[in-house]
Amino acid sequence: MERFTGTFTQQEPIPDEAIEAAVAVMRHGRLHRYNTVADEVAEVALLESEFAAAMGARYALAVASGGYALATALRACGVRPGDRVLTNAFTLAPVPGAIASLGAVPVFVGVTEALTIDLDDLAAKAGQADVLLLSHMRGHICDMAALMALCDTHGLTLIEDCAHTMGARWNGTLSGRHGVFGCYSTQTYKHLNSGEGGLLVSDDAELMARAVMLSGSYMLYGRHLAGPSPEAYADLRYDTPNVSGRMDNLRAAILRPQLARLEARCEAWTARYRVVEEGLRDLPGLTLIARPAAERFVGSSIQVLLLDWSDAALREVIARCAARGVELKWFGAPEPAGFTSRYESWRYAPSEPMPASDRILRAILDMRLPLTFSLDDCALIARIIRAEVSAVFQGA
Ligand SMILES: Cc1ncc(COP(=O)(O)O)c(C=O)c1O
Repeated sequence: MERFTGTFTQQEPIPDEAIEAAVAVMRHGRLHRYNTVADEVAEVALLESEFAAAMGARYALAVASGGYALATALRACGVRPGDRVLTNAFTLAPVPGAIASLGAVPVFVGVTEALTIDLDDLAAKAGQADVLLLSHMRGHICDMAALMALCDTHGLTLIEDCAHTMGARWNGTLSGRHGVFGCYSTQTYKHLNSGEGGLLVSDDAELMARAVMLSGSYMLYGRHLAGPSPEAYADLRYDTPNVSGRMDNLRAAILRPQLARLEARCEAWTARYRVVEEGLRDLPGLTLIARPAAERFVGSSIQVLLLDWSDAALREVIARCAARGVELKWFGAPEPAGFTSRYESWRYAPSEPMPASDRILRAILDMRLPLTFSLDDCALIARIIRAEVSAVFQGA
């Protein structure tokens, strides 16, 4: 019987060039982004400039985490305590957490079988809020043209959570470039790895000036290469609080060489995804997620649905795959575990039952595809899942 021996949490090593850049920062000791000498441009400012160019955005800001990027975008958009903010029911804890960190209240919107936000449910709930924090959860991008039309109709400001879609596109437009802010994470399991870290992009000078002030720039915003010009700060520098969450030069030094490789990494992930997807095609009982032609996704993880299976059968599939070295995460588990959890587990946020979404959430099996896996590894993983799903489906 075949067994997989790889590690689902093992990312690639940091490139040598990035290690050397990080060592150079440690040797000179100027880790704080505003600690520069003479004409020196800080690694953080360079990263922001390169990230803005890569995303085709006017402005970029590097911060301490993806969750911090989300909260900063919400604050910059004027979300206040008690405000309601629309967001996905299918997402991870930092998303409703960012909303709650402002004293605001998440309003959960359902999920479709495509694992994207349910646009009908969004239309029904749109009147409850001014802001939509849209999570492109696990890299699934909804019909962005339809979503933008809905936001226009209902006057919703869109903030995009691109923690899983850095480098992805919808109809050629990069994820994060539809909303007023695109927010990214550079935490270890994301598309760039600095351990912890986050980035924001925007074309709006006032919103980005607020975000820069919020991040803790004191009156040093003039040192940003990818920030708005000084006039944008004229008034708001007096009334924007400092909620420190800057990125440091060490992380930025590690990220810059990785950013230069982003396209190639995205392709490598998606090649792995396609091998697993192919290996699971036409398997009775298992539903693959349809990927629309307009979506250029980054396959850094894969999800499948075992719709309407009993809890016992789902648990058996997970246990049998685990016994053969394949780690599947289940979004249907009643108790939150590891990185997975469901909207009902976030008890600080009131939620209405959503039976159609619950049916989908409890069917989701989720698996990471780190770049340390080869294409052969992915084929083996698919064979194992295929065999175990079939065995349980046939009552073996
Ligand atoms: C969907 C989603 N959004 C946002 C974040 C926040 O990223 P960070 O861990 O950098 O705060 C994460 C991280 O796991 C995530 O999965």
